[in-house]
Amino acid sequence: MPNASSEVWSRLTDSSLLQSLNLIDGAWTAAQSGNTHAVVNPSNQREIAVVAASDAEDARLAVQAAFAAGPAWASKPAKDRATILRKWRDSIVANSADLGLILAAEQGKPLRESIDEVLYGASFVGWFAEEALRAYGDTIPSPSPSKRIAVVKQPIGVAALITPWNFPSAMITRKAGPALAAGCTVVLKPAEDTPLSALALGELALRSGLPPGVLNIVTTAQPAGVGEVLTTDPRVRKLSFTGSTRIGKMLMQKCASTVKRVSLELGGNAAFIVFEDADVDAAVEGIMAAKFRNTGQTCISANRIFVHEALYETLTERLTHKVGELVVGDALAEGSQQGPLINEAALHKVTRLVEDALAHGARLLIGGTAHSRGGWYFQPTVLCDVPSSSAMQEEEIFGPVAALQRFSDEKEVVALANATPYGLASYFYSRDIARCWRVAEMLEVGMVGINDGSLSTEVAPFGGIKESGFGREGSKYGIAEYQESKYISFGGI
Ligand code: SIN
Repeated sequence: MPNASSEVWSRLTDSSLLQSLNLIDGAWTAAQSGNTHAVVNPSNQREIAVVAASDAEDARLAVQAAFAAGPAWASKPAKDRATILRKWRDSIVANSADLGLILAAEQGKPLRESIDEVLYGASFVGWFAEEALRAYGDTIPSPSPSKRIAVVKQPIGVAALITPWNFPSAMITRKAGPALAAGCTVVLKPAEDTPLSALALGELALRSGLPPGVLNIVTTAQPAGVGEVLTTDPRVRKLSFTGSTRIGKMLMQKCASTVKRVSLELGGNAAFIVFEDADVDAAVEGIMAAKFRNTGQTCISANRIFVHEALYETLTERLTHKVGELVVGDALAEGSQQGPLINEAALHKVTRLVEDALAHGARLLIGGTAHSRGGWYFQPTVLCDVPSSSAMQEEEIFGPVAALQRFSDEKEVVALANATPYGLASYFYSRDIARCWRVAEMLEVGMVGINDGSLSTEVAPFGGIKESGFGREGSKYGIAEYQESKYISFGGI
């Protein structure tokens, strides 16, 4: 049960959104072992709730429920599935203040940004409610006069969704929206650090009329046992995972044993390039958006910022000024713009990467160490002249650290941007139309922002190439990840 001593929850309008048990077959269910684990508020490291600490047995029950609910959900007319999804979307929007509070408390994202994430998440449910209605197949001209050929779209079956802590709401709806719209049933395993947003979404799904077993949620502190079931049980036909490349590779290997369909949205190492013909102020705004959203904890964060030598000093100065204005604070405090990092390990990692860059010759312009507030806060930081040999040019920083280096040549900078095993997103600023096309085509990524530091929207396909994964989420492409194309040959005509 939620920790009664937590003053945070007294701010909720609807406290029944705060659930602590697994959602299995439409019922709130304790872990079979009776075990629980604590959820901690990263803003102050206080325990704010305890939730079910599930293991393989709970995962099997959830898979069983999803499997049993599958045929009825798949055969429901798309119009009826869409009606339920629209209700779910509307109730997420109507409860966005409470959902934002829950998200901010468990993840440390400032409250305004948390509410924005909830609304961003709702947009996927709304989008896929409509896409459910457009799950068109094909008819194909037959090579034989006595045959007709059709292709119908069918749901894959049970979809296992494993979601990350950095977007505890939107990464769930971005997967569950298309899965449910396509007619799949779902077993969701939210991140260990942030289960409460998932459970609140589950509560709203039940209220919206989602039948028992269609959406099951299993929380855990030890993901290996649950993950083993989700990746090896033959009743699960699809796995969608957002998280690190290391874990993604492992899950993909495990899914091979039953040849599941897999979508992976993995790590990134986004380059952000500012060419000599860019609008400097627009580029600074773009860096602020692409780097400091969620305190730098996004897969599409600008990890390596390349600035042409002609603009380098001007841009660096303006950026440092803006970064110095960022307000660091408790996610639930009025006016906070940068929250804490998710946990102590994250604080150590960001500290190590900054120390390593400085040891390799980077220059510190602002920040550079843990924040004087203590806890898991890191100062918004700007480093310049960061050499390619420093670890933060290869590893995702996942913190509020802008790492700049200068360049002089277009070809050279594109080669540097592509010199990474990752291929999720890249950004560049330029006002030269020919260069815009040329560079966008040359960057080896799934998403490019040209004069744009904010890529995320439900209407466009989100996803990467290379070791950033495969599959697309959102947009008209997102539902295909949960559908099979069945070819029907109709003879004897
Ligand atoms: C992510 O960091 O994985 C998702 C970011 C987004 O949807 O904007």
